[in-house]
Amino acid sequence: MSDLERELDALRADAEAAIASAGDVPALEDASVRFLGRKARLNEILRGVRDLPDDQKRVIGPAANRLRRDLEAGVESRRAELERADEERLLATDRIDLTMPGRRPLRGAPNPLRHSTRQLEDAFVGMGYRIAEGPEVEDDWHNFEALNHPPDHPARSLMDTYYVEGPRGPESALLRTHTSPVQVRVMETQQPPIYVICPGRVFRRDAADATHAPVFHQLEGLAVDRGLTFKHLRSTVEVFARAAFGPETKARLVPSFYPFTEPSAELQVTCPVCGGVGCSHCAYGWHGAGGCGMVDPNVLEFVGIDPEVYTGFAFGMGIEKAPMKRFGIADLRLFLEGDVRFLDQFKGVPVS
Ligand code: DAH
Repeated sequence: MSDLERELDALRADAEAAIASAGDVPALEDASVRFLGRKARLNEILRGVRDLPDDQKRVIGPAANRLRRDLEAGVESRRAELERADEERLLATDRIDLTMPGRRPLRGAPNPLRHSTRQLEDAFVGMGYRIAEGPEVEDDWHNFEALNHPPDHPARSLMDTYYVEGPRGPESALLRTHTSPVQVRVMETQQPPIYVICPGRVFRRDAADATHAPVFHQLEGLAVDRGLTFKHLRSTVEVFARAAFGPETKARLVPSFYPFTEPSAELQVTCPVCGGVGCSHCAYGWHGAGGCGMVDPNVLEFVGIDPEVYTGFAFGMGIEKAPMKRFGIADLRLFLEGDVRFLDQFKGVPVS
């Protein structure tokens, strides 16, 4: 056996050991370069074959080529083995347990006020009204002045409220005390005929108790057209009363005062608790539901609508009493607290 044959045998032993012990693909690449790369000893031997004497050439040439093929095959099969092992490791560590129960998203429930607001919206949209919205932070003009409350008007004090910094300086804006400013905004931008309702949140500096809250909701209504009279107002607020409190509800109008309506009235409805007989919840069977009246000609003039051509009526009703009646909610504060134990009870109640 020649020296070269012995060397080839030694190379085979070393290379096979290196390939077998490569623990991952990069280690295998190293071994492959070391034994099969351009600068590897095996390559050197192969390149030198042509310079060997003929008898050596016949032995070394085929033996070196066989060694190269064997080593190449060995590298490939080791690579396949390592890749399979990698994959199995990954499958084991990244296993997804498909039987594990999912995380259920928390499901909310609409606040009961939502139910009543929708119900009222449906009743008015059915009569051809549109829904309008306005900002909750208002300026003095829309909340007061354009509604015929000049700066020192005593009616303002009934709405003593939260002033905030506005574009015209400190205390030049306020949290709206009623939804009536939306009337003004609608009349400033639309020409009659106007038929809108404006549901929304309002704010007053009132301490919270079972029947008062510093934040509550109103449904404003406004109609401006040719020939509207108090009769139209009356039948419209009766629609409100029945939609809010049920078809058995009776309604009446009693004289009242608002600076932006003339004449003005309060809508009273039969007490939802005693049905009108008289109980501890009501004044002799009747409940005040909100204010209304014929739009004061001054207000129409403020917004550039000719009061000689058009008349209008308006109303502003509290919304909270409707769900209180419908769902038997005794305390107004429950609407404000956001307590999920309260809200959860309305899960699954269809809205409207
Ligand atoms: N804005 C009044 C209030 O909150 C209610 C009201 C009265 C609204 C008469 C109106 C109206 O639109 O015409 O007390």
